[in-house]
Amino acid sequence: PAGLIFWAVAGYLLGSVPFGIVISRLFGLGDLRQIGSGNIGATNVLRTGNKLAAALTLILDSGKGAAAVLIARLLAGEDAVQLAGFAAFLGHCFPVWLRFKGGKGVATFLGLLLAYAWPVGLAACATWLVTALVMRISSLSALVAATLVPVWASILGYPESVLMTLALATLIFIRHRPNIERLVAGEEPRIGGKK
Ligand code: G3P
Repeated sequence: PAGLIFWAVAGYLLGSVPFGIVISRLFGLGDLRQIGSGNIGATNVLRTGNKLAAALTLILDSGKGAAAVLIARLLAGEDAVQLAGFAAFLGHCFPVWLRFKGGKGVATFLGLLLAYAWPVGLAACATWLVTALVMRISSLSALVAATLVPVWASILGYPESVLMTLALATLIFIRHRPNIERLVAGEEPRIGGKK
């Protein structure tokens, strides 16, 4: 149990690094929370028009989810792996540094899935991409991908992760509440479109 608490805290702290805020400051793009949706993720960094900064945010926010899983797997074994990944997701969404007002967890979710079970991660990324190519809405792509991940997990042979992915998908829906309201109202901005 002491070991598991360690991995929960370590995962949380890793996940709580708000790379979107760090990168947009480094690039001189201002405070993300005053831009677009106010979210700290790559989609909102892209609204500044800086594609490199958005790509770096996506890579680093996914990377911290993947790192939590891989480090736990390497040093602690399979017991700690789901816990570390889940904690990293919670760290991103509820970081102590931002008074628990963090992001929506999509990149971190994809990253931890790729590291946890790469076929499920790839299926999730493909689901996001196909939806984004067709609909051109980031939040909708995230909601579709999150919904299908528990299905991919069971089909692709990772039944032990169905519960975790269901919990993560539920949290993603909860974090996207303002987006869902805008989607229903037909007001959610499109990727690359006007705000
Ligand atoms: O990853 C978050 C994305 O799904 C929505 O971001 O800025 O449009 O609320 P945003």
